[in-house]
Amino acid sequence: MNLIERIKEKARKSVKRIVLPEGDEPRTVAAAKIIKDEGIAEPILLTKEQIEAPSNKAKFDAYAAALYELRKAKGLTEEAAAKLAADPMYYGMMMVKVGDADGLVSGAVHSTGDMLRPALQIIKTAPGMKLVSSSFLMECPDRSLGEDGLLVYADCVVNPCPTAEELAHIAIASAETARTLCGIAEPRVALLSFSTKGSASHALVDKVREATEIAHSLAPDLALDGEMQFDAAIVPEVGASKAKGSPVAGRANVFVFPDLQAGNIGYKITQRIGKASCFAVLQGLAKPCNDLSRGCSVDDIVSTVAATAVQSR
Ligand code: ACO
Repeated sequence: MNLIERIKEKARKSVKRIVLPEGDEPRTVAAAKIIKDEGIAEPILLTKEQIEAPSNKAKFDAYAAALYELRKAKGLTEEAAAKLAADPMYYGMMMVKVGDADGLVSGAVHSTGDMLRPALQIIKTAPGMKLVSSSFLMECPDRSLGEDGLLVYADCVVNPCPTAEELAHIAIASAETARTLCGIAEPRVALLSFSTKGSASHALVDKVREATEIAHSLAPDLALDGEMQFDAAIVPEVGASKAKGSPVAGRANVFVFPDLQAGNIGYKITQRIGKASCFAVLQGLAKPCNDLSRGCSVDDIVSTVAATAVQSR
């Protein structure tokens, strides 16, 4: 069974309510039918007309008031809150915030930033989490790589230029995603660089080394090492020669890229040249919300909803 099938199987065990704010978008409508028919989740399709219907006024007013309370310190007026609440993306976020839905999936129409911003402003980070980031779950045809062909890449979506401390938090959150969503019992995390264990010196390398130290101190039991090059992380022979004795080198299954440019480019190379299938999840949010690519297929939406349902357990 591939990763997606395993995730769907898990989702079916406890059916969650997942809100889809792009509720009149054709792929989303088709996906919702499959999700419901296959018992993967209970999809809630939202449309602007439905939100603004007179029969929905009490609910709408309650969400607008709650949104105003949440954001008034940031300068949001009551009038502006009511306007935002009429946007299905914000209305959907409020449903998740107050517990009327368990998670949200969007992005077939909206850009990543347009989906991320309300999630960051309304749902916010989970207790104890420093920041929101993402993991790309890459499933490669070559099963000798990573964990039986599965590689977790981070952060390829959210944080353009993480500090050493933020990188450390991304590493720890990604290991958790590997465990809980991918079923990887022993995440082995490599913090990537153009240098392996001091082979090059540069401020950028120092940042990755510092991130590794911080992550070690925050999660001493996690198998984690850096800085290392991608080949040292994934190829056993290279790992053995460049990073002898490392608990991770040559057999990493979680790969933390030093910034968003490297991560985003890296996942696309793995997808396009390495022929990996992939999808992304956000991590670190207080409740699960996930973004789709605007080029997504109906199947991609079904998979992302299944992953969101599993994250909400
Ligand atoms: N974790 C937690 N909270 C955050 C984070 C984070 N990583 N980043 C921003 N925030 C919070 C801020 O603290 C702020 O909260 P507040 O309003 O309550 O004070 C709020 O989010 C907005 O912060 P801004 O700094 O104003 O954020 P901005 O709107 O400028 O940008 C965003 C945030 C959208 C995540 C931005 O970093 C971004 O655009 N990232 C890249 C997205 C992207 O284009 N990815 C690549 C394409 S995706 C793909 O290829 C699959």
